[in-house]
Amino acid sequence: MVQSIKANILLIEATRFINNCYDELDLPKEDQLKRIEEIENEINTTGTYSHKTFELTHGAKMAWRNSNRCIGRLLWNTLHIFDARDVLTAEDAYEKLVNHIDFATNDGKIRSTITIFAPRKNGEDPIRIWNHQLLRYAGYKEGDKVIGDSTSNQMTKMCEKMGWKGDRTHFDILPFVIQEKGQKPKLFEVPNGVIKEVPITHPELDGIQKLGVKWYAVPIISNMLLEIGGIEYPMAPFNGWYMGTEIGARNLADQDRYNLLPKVAEIMELDTKLNSSLWIDKALVELNIAVIHSYQQAHVTLVDHHTAAKQFKVFEENEMKSGRPITGNWAWLIPPISPASTDIYHKPYNNNIVTPNYFIQADPEEN
Ligand code: ARG
Repeated sequence: MVQSIKANILLIEATRFINNCYDELDLPKEDQLKRIEEIENEINTTGTYSHKTFELTHGAKMAWRNSNRCIGRLLWNTLHIFDARDVLTAEDAYEKLVNHIDFATNDGKIRSTITIFAPRKNGEDPIRIWNHQLLRYAGYKEGDKVIGDSTSNQMTKMCEKMGWKGDRTHFDILPFVIQEKGQKPKLFEVPNGVIKEVPITHPELDGIQKLGVKWYAVPIISNMLLEIGGIEYPMAPFNGWYMGTEIGARNLADQDRYNLLPKVAEIMELDTKLNSSLWIDKALVELNIAVIHSYQQAHVTLVDHHTAAKQFKVFEENEMKSGRPITGNWAWLIPPISPASTDIYHKPYNNNIVTPNYFIQADPEEN
């Protein structure tokens, strides 16, 4: 009984996805109907169904298009897909992930990319990765101080428990932690050769370079679950490229992250005793100028928040023309600096969740 309810829901989800997908791709109605029949049979005999490659590809793109928090969605249709559904061992997955980083980095001309591993089956995940992003700096708590990135404290502890030892710099790339179904997680060091990083410098303020700060080129979110037509892909790391403020106004600026604003203010010789001197705002702008400048110097793709907001406006217009109501999460879409200088700030967004989409999921089960 429970089984058949599940199967029914899956068929409804699958049908909705196939209809939208085939309509968008302008495929003949008869293919659509035949495919739904085929899926129904497959669900009835196996309890699930398997996406054709072009369905997977278009589904992953739709999922990006539906990501309410993402300001970069104009480019949803440019996503590159690697189909890794046949990979079942941590060792083979590791190779696919290294290849993802290499392909996406493309020597700085970043390509938006997703690698999709095997879907959940009978409630079980064939393979999972513990990392939040494929590339992320470790964080070591020492008393009330943190070396590195505090958002990685827990993950770093886990890696250390598994025998990993970082150099304890502020910028140690964490290893991958990959787990096959029913197995203990395994550690894999990311080969140096595929990691591109950008030293942070400023066009005028020489002191910034002396801080010895850097950031990695490609943000590759790896802990979200991709859902397409009722099928769940718990391991499907994806990347676009950075918007400058993610690094300059958050990662390097947040007080509980790299907390660089006081140091930047010192370099700028600002009066940090008075809030009303707006030293925080001045330092923020210069730090963000530094980030944009550095990525440009290094020929690594990055978008400033004004350009991103304009691109988002074009995305909204495109969606309107295609007859798809736009959904968005205002609090995430507005950039963290000068938000009111963008159009996004001045209107409401409907935060309904439409699928396909990327979802936050619980960490894997420890074995
Ligand atoms: N905000 C995250 C970070 O700073 C990255 C999230 C994804 N960003 C993107 N531009 N695709 O690492």
